[in-house]
Amino acid sequence: MSANESHEHESLIKTPQQLGVVMVLSFVIPVIGILLLVQLVIGGINTDTVTNSAEAVADRIKPVAQVTIAAGGADGAAKTGEQIYQTVCTACHSTGAAGAPKMGDTAAWGKLIAQGQKTIVADATKGIRAMPPKGGATDLSDYEFERAVVYMANKSGGSFKEPAAPKAADKAAKK
Ligand code: HEC
Repeated sequence: MSANESHEHESLIKTPQQLGVVMVLSFVIPVIGILLLVQLVIGGINTDTVTNSAEAVADRIKPVAQVTIAAGGADGAAKTGEQIYQTVCTACHSTGAAGAPKMGDTAAWGKLIAQGQKTIVADATKGIRAMPPKGGATDLSDYEFERAVVYMANKSGGSFKEPAAPKAADKAAKK
């Protein structure tokens, strides 16, 4: 009976290694908790209007998988047409995949450019045939997307105008 009893109440910790693991965890877990709390407090008093602008917030809460696309947009600044081209549009527009007009192909782009900046920006924003809306990067602002179109068109014989920066991106665009 007593042997049975001691068996039932046997500790989960049986070896010195297990004890070591339990001790380490019992230190590490509270330390992580404290670090998270400290971070929360430090983050909580940061009411800087720039870092809390709609664009900066949108930049921070965008899907994790797209963080690598944020080259140059780290501080919430609008990305340039070239940056967007390099990270998004190049997938199709450098190779001509799915029938995309290749960047630098003045013949293909000539026809598009002739349709006018407004028209092709509108078409590409909502998607046209195999071109997904905004090239699939629907997190791009209309302003950023239009800059990418302008970049590609102008590298392919066009002379499209840079769109005017929206208010929130004003500062960023002027740097
Ligand atoms: C998944 C592949 C893909 C990606 C990524 C992509 N495109 Fe396209 N794009 C296409 C294809 C295919 C067409 C040709 C559509 C057609 O006319 O059939 C096209 C056409 C266009 C056109 C011409 C639209 C018109 O009026 O005919 C523009 C402008 C354009 N893309 C801009 C962009 C920009 C800017 C990006 C990056 C932000 C981008 N694309 C990313 C596939 C892509």
